[in-house]
Amino acid sequence: MERGRGDDVRDFLVQTRKLAYDEVEKTGMPVKFHVDLAREVGKKLAKKLRANVNIVEAGTLLMDCLIGQAIRAGKLEEHIAMSLAKANKILDQSIVSNEVKENIRHCISEHHGTQKFYSLESEICCNADCYRFVSIKGFSYAMRYIRSMPFSDLVTLLDKKVTEKWGLLSLSICKKELANQHEIIEKILRGLKAP
Ligand SMILES: [Fe+2]
Repeated sequence: MERGRGDDVRDFLVQTRKLAYDEVEKTGMPVKFHVDLAREVGKKLAKKLRANVNIVEAGTLLMDCLIGQAIRAGKLEEHIAMSLAKANKILDQSIVSNEVKENIRHCISEHHGTQKFYSLESEICCNADCYRFVSIKGFSYAMRYIRSMPFSDLVTLLDKKVTEKWGLLSLSICKKELANQHEIIEKILRGLKAP
């Protein structure tokens, strides 16, 4: 990394944290514990896999930053485009290098998976996002804090998310770590769906 670039990213991170947690405060989504979880898991993975920890942190904070507004507008499927547009506004004013900006943009745009990830940082963000539903912690946070809905709808939603996110896990280190937890979550879901 060139001298100074890390500092620029760290400055950018201060703005990013504020944006992400202000949106959580305003809209209740993403669930704050899910923001914390993806952020911490992402940083841990980045350190382990020798990726850029600051880029991964920015990616995990920004990837769903406007999902609350998207849900309110009935445009959940547009949450990636909306989050990217919001991130671009602060990226455009930032002095981080174009290379870093491009990497952060891909961390957002590819966080629901892609054929070939732009970078290791982007792949880590996608995998960290999966922990929100496929880990015991993330699944429990979703049960407790996700937006209010009838319980049977919640079970259907969680079932869909768990299947989707388990399928998106691409890093073997994550699959290995989550295999047992995923099995337990599947058992819980089977129990909840049983007549
Ligand atoms: Fe998302």
